[in-house]
Amino acid sequence: MARQVSLGVLISGSGTNLQAIIDAVEAKRLDAAIRVVVSNRADAYGLVRAKKHNLPTKTLDHKKFPSREAFDQALVEILQARSVELVVLAGFMRLLSPVLVKAFSNRIMNIHPSLLPSFPGLHGQKQAVDYGVRFSGCTVHFVNEECDQGPVIIQAIVPVFPEDTEESLGARILKQEHRIYPRAIQLYAEGRLRVVGRKVLVDGLEKDESPVLVHPPLR
Ligand code: GRF
Repeated sequence: MARQVSLGVLISGSGTNLQAIIDAVEAKRLDAAIRVVVSNRADAYGLVRAKKHNLPTKTLDHKKFPSREAFDQALVEILQARSVELVVLAGFMRLLSPVLVKAFSNRIMNIHPSLLPSFPGLHGQKQAVDYGVRFSGCTVHFVNEECDQGPVIIQAIVPVFPEDTEESLGARILKQEHRIYPRAIQLYAEGRLRVVGRKVLVDGLEKDESPVLVHPPLR
């Protein structure tokens, strides 16, 4: 049994990844407690989800701060006041400054809707469709000072079809996001993640060479 890790979840929108994390905690698949959910937008539906589960919420409007650093400092104070250990970015649409990244070094996770380092930044799903790749997916990574470039923890792969749109591919990817984000956090809770240079080593993993995918298929 892993210890319970204290989470602060940062959102800006619909919060389906937040929901997946809440569900995993409630189903006891994830040894974590959500200490606070912070949104930079008052109308984020994720805040409604959090309240339905009696989780503490805060809205912090970035437009009311003179700089990115001042906003991040306020975030750090909220997170530290709740004794948050791991910061979980779940559709949080703000670039982080070193103020936040340094305060929680290797203790911030993000999920991105592509197989990083392909298609970083906004609209990873549309970038994959437009490029014509056969596979895309999602990536959970630790956050460093470069956007979408931190050490990779876990990835899931989905096929991309010729008729896909940003929306259809996005929906296929999102389903996998909801599976891998709670898993990444659980690995952290179990103390199995070690950051070595730009790699994340996962303790106790069996090497499995079977997941090879070819698309279109060879047959
Ligand atoms: C997801 O696609 C995630 O990969 C990206 O923002 C979206 C958040 O969706 N970072 P939700 O708010 O969790 O539904």
